[in-house]
Amino acid sequence: MSIWNVKGGNTLGGSLAVQGAKNAVLPIMAASILTGCETELLNVPQLSDVQATIRILRSVGCTVTVDGDVVGIDSTGVCRSEVPDELMHQLRSSIIFLGALLARCGEARLSMPGGCALGRRPVDQHLKVLRALGAEIEETDGHILCRSRGLRGTRIELDMPSVGATENAMLAACAAEGTTVLTNAAREPEIADLQEYLRRLGANVSGAGTGTVTVAGFDPQPRVGHRIMPDRIVASTLLCAAAAAGGDLELRGLAPRTFSSVTAVLSEMGCQLRTTRRSVRILSDGRLRAPGPIATGPYPGFPTDAQPLLMAACLRARGTTLFVENMFENRYGQVSEFVRLGADVRTVGKLAVVNGVERLTGAEVSATDLRAGAALVTAALAAEGESRIHDAGHIDRGYFDLDGSLRYLGAEVFRS
Ligand code: UD1
Repeated sequence: MSIWNVKGGNTLGGSLAVQGAKNAVLPIMAASILTGCETELLNVPQLSDVQATIRILRSVGCTVTVDGDVVGIDSTGVCRSEVPDELMHQLRSSIIFLGALLARCGEARLSMPGGCALGRRPVDQHLKVLRALGAEIEETDGHILCRSRGLRGTRIELDMPSVGATENAMLAACAAEGTTVLTNAAREPEIADLQEYLRRLGANVSGAGTGTVTVAGFDPQPRVGHRIMPDRIVASTLLCAAAAAGGDLELRGLAPRTFSSVTAVLSEMGCQLRTTRRSVRILSDGRLRAPGPIATGPYPGFPTDAQPLLMAACLRARGTTLFVENMFENRYGQVSEFVRLGADVRTVGKLAVVNGVERLTGAEVSATDLRAGAALVTAALAAEGESRIHDAGHIDRGYFDLDGSLRYLGAEVFRS
């Protein structure tokens, strides 16, 4: 597994464009098989999760080309409704192929998806929406077989605003007769990006970004182009890193309103934030104060994906910060590693209490998952001396060249 060496103590300075969003591109790539058509996606980040999704697309019969951040998908040849287990296990968002294949082929056979180990991650809401649309579903030893002899639009209320279940419902509803109205839908900006793509593909879909999404018919188009929205979690990562290490950093080509819950906390901690419609600049002297309690929640609440990153910025902040993790039961994988760096953090169930310390010291640590890995890099940038981050391969699932970006900004981060 790859190891990252991080020498702390440098401030971060400069200006950077932010990559396309992982959580937008993965469902959009799955959606590209809804009909036989040619899709050109721009601003696609080069991530190992994108590579895995390309392998899934090829395995079901698509032709896929990659040229830098442009990905071409020709889905006219889709001929299989089954995704190999080995590919399913590589990422959680592979579950979106359930709705996509059901819509395209009338059936889908998948195994339970993999992804970050954040505790129990059930798929009951995904199955609920597909059943409501008329699919018959069998679950046997870790596999899901989903079939339909014609999907029918209907009203569906989610028990919780699941991002993935909202996306699966939108994709399957594209193939349904009549109108589907999904309530208690997730409101994440990436769902609005999926809606943009689906509209270009010919779907009559509206409401994404609100709690009610309506799909009312589909007029397939042969060619579609779409630019992937910027990644608000990558932006949050770089801002937390600049907050923790100190510096003057500008991020361009992004939508600050999509992560205002994060920038609001960084302002509260004493950073100066200057925001325009498409950019954000942060100035930090690295001397932060603890913010009020941080409780994660569905959008527009504080994103669970940014929780480990913000926690990294709180480790040396004056005072005590309370975190409440409401989305995943096992999302404090970074805490034991932060403690190795000299942090004072304790967890009880969904709570974590951070008492700010004067200094952090470089150490040998391990990344348990994608965001925990990025959070360790963030903390190590603010630590004295050198850290070695083991299992850092997780980071490449969601960040394109994070080490290169940080070096460009003045940090010392090297792979070994
Ligand atoms: C997506 C994001 C992930 C983010 C998460 C929450 C993608 C590719 N991934 O994941 O980065 O951390 O949203 O913002 O977009 N749940 C159920 N039953 C279900 C589905 C979900 O109980 O059928 C629960 C989950 O266990 C979790 C909560 O609902 O507690 C939210 O999960 P969900 O919104 O579905 O997350 P993902 O779509 O997997």
